[in-house]
Amino acid sequence: MKTMPLCITVNGAVRQWTIAPGDLLLDVLRREGFFGVKRGCEKGECGACTVLLNGKPVNSCLVFAAQADGCDVMTIEGLASGGEMHPLQEAFLEHGAVQCGFCSPGMILAAKALLDRQPHPTEEQVREALAGNYCRCTGYKKPVEAVLRVAEKSNGAPRRHKAGAICR
Ligand code: FES
Ligand code: FES
Repeated sequence: MKTMPLCITVNGAVRQWTIAPGDLLLDVLRREGFFGVKRGCEKGECGACTVLLNGKPVNSCLVFAAQADGCDVMTIEGLASGGEMHPLQEAFLEHGAVQCGFCSPGMILAAKALLDRQPHPTEEQVREALAGNYCRCTGYKKPVEAVLRVAEKSNGAPRRHKAGAICR
């Protein structure tokens, strides 16, 4: 089988893996132990596989791993810092926005991307940002409330995407 090297930064750490040209980012991340990246529809419809690629949410089931070469990827495993949950993770728990939790990683990452570019979104903007993430348990009321609560508590300083170390 033909293989190729892949060098990406995942959650701030440079990773060098060997992949097949047709491997999906979803499959490679899960193969390497990032199980917070969920396998749902595998058709770009449910958002369960969402990761941030250079700060933007993408469905990793629709991205070839090779396309992420040299890029910065964030999965839900990279969100907590120093043993502390990210405010979005705390807010989702506090607002009862997590039931089975299958959609939560993708939804939280989509919300993070929104707050990074728009620290004080309207409810409509939050709903729009989460529209690609299906939840079969809680619906959207509680996740939307959780995101708005985080925005309300923030001091308004935009949290820009920070590029990680890149290998090329
Ligand atoms: S698994 Fe990728 S969008 Fe559903
Ligand atoms: S919490 Fe179960 S799918 Fe959203």
